[in-house]
Amino acid sequence: MSIASFKSAHRLITGQQASSRLSEEILRLGMRCPMVVTDPGVLGSGTLKPITDQLDVLKANGQLTHYRIFSEVSAEPEVHIVEDCMSVYLEAQCDGLIALGGGSAMDIAKCVAVYATHDGDLESLFGEDKARVRGAPLIAMPTTAGTGSEVTNIGILSDTEARMKKGIVNDYLLPDVAIVAPELTVSCPRHVTAASGVDALVHAIEAYLSNFATPITDALAIKAMRLIIKALPKAYANPGNLEAREAMATGSLLAGMAFGNAGVGAVHALAYPLGGRYHLPHGVTNALLLPHVMRWNALACVERFRDIAEALDTAHHALKDEAAAELVVERLHQLCRDVDIPSGLRHFDISEKDIPSLAADAAKVERLLRNNPRQLTQHDIECIYRAAW
Ligand SMILES: NC(=O)c1ccc[n+]([C@@H]2O[C@H](COP(=O)([O-])OP(=O)(O)OC[C@H]3O[C@@H](n4cnc5c(N)ncnc54)[C@H](O)[C@@H]3O)[C@@H](O)[C@H]2O)c1
Ligand SMILES: [Fe+2]
Repeated sequence: MSIASFKSAHRLITGQQASSRLSEEILRLGMRCPMVVTDPGVLGSGTLKPITDQLDVLKANGQLTHYRIFSEVSAEPEVHIVEDCMSVYLEAQCDGLIALGGGSAMDIAKCVAVYATHDGDLESLFGEDKARVRGAPLIAMPTTAGTGSEVTNIGILSDTEARMKKGIVNDYLLPDVAIVAPELTVSCPRHVTAASGVDALVHAIEAYLSNFATPITDALAIKAMRLIIKALPKAYANPGNLEAREAMATGSLLAGMAFGNAGVGAVHALAYPLGGRYHLPHGVTNALLLPHVMRWNALACVERFRDIAEALDTAHHALKDEAAAELVVERLHQLCRDVDIPSGLRHFDISEKDIPSLAADAAKVERLLRNNPRQLTQHDIECIYRAAW
């Protein structure tokens, strides 16, 4: 094994009612006027209230001068939302960020945190390792389970003009604190529970199959798969099931730590152009591609599929590796059916004629394709899109 490093948020706070620790962390980080970054869905769900209650107490005690709420994050946010959020941050003279939301709100807050201390325009931050200094203090509180963005060094934005997703990848995006509190996810609408839950499972599977997997990321990924496969149907069936919500929050966190270090692969690479062009939720695009990419990948690393089959509770010990891989693919199809994600790109108004240009765009996502266990040519990618159509 070659040398590997491991990174995550600097501090993790987990468990039921973990959100009650926010005040303590704000004070520890020395914030005097934080900005909460969230979105209209989270705002309308009542999830913000216990957070502002804590901020109001701090303010009444003179421990905060003021705080500001920016709630205009849209799902799969556009680049300009970073600029909008940054203007409010500067205008209100804030000195730290609290991200309360799914991947969309967390990614905006992460980007603003590094942008706030960056000596240059936003464009100059896109790509890998462009920020040279630490960002503003940042606490991430996921309300979906989830993207794992609370522990990753990437912020993903939609670029409508380029019809692609683009990212800022930089260790300075790692939050100072991740508060992973299952109670924040209870109000999640069913379709968001489904899509973001499948996204978390994809993170675990792709990290486990990655060319850059390590024993540390393997352990995290396998545990994440075990938790998610059992808990996702339960959280979907009964949104108020706190035990299932906690297992999903933990599974998503572990999957985030796994892929935040080992990377994700072809499922995400092929999902990017679908998200960029058709504005489908990230988790849905992953779900549409997951079984098809896995069928394709199995040839390269069939023995790793036996481990996945065991983690997903499908393998019988007497099975050959190839049969275990087939079971994995079938199990993933079944999970998507259980949580009502339609299979087939055709159900989302995606024309079969678009496939060659989608494949050309996906082939450019080298940052992720290099992690994938099977090398993919543009022709291979076309074949996978056709199978998924
Ligand atoms: N940075 C990373 O490491 C990383 C990883 C994966 C995905 N992403 C990005 O994350 C984004 C997707 O994030 P997501 O799947 O978490 O969804 P999201 O943040 O886009 O939220 C989806 C919808 O769910 C609503 N919502 C979220 N939590 C809620 C709650 N508790 N109660 C009520 N409504 C709630 C939101 O208002 C929104 O309308 C995409 O832009 C994707 O590219 C980032
Ligand atoms: Fe993802």
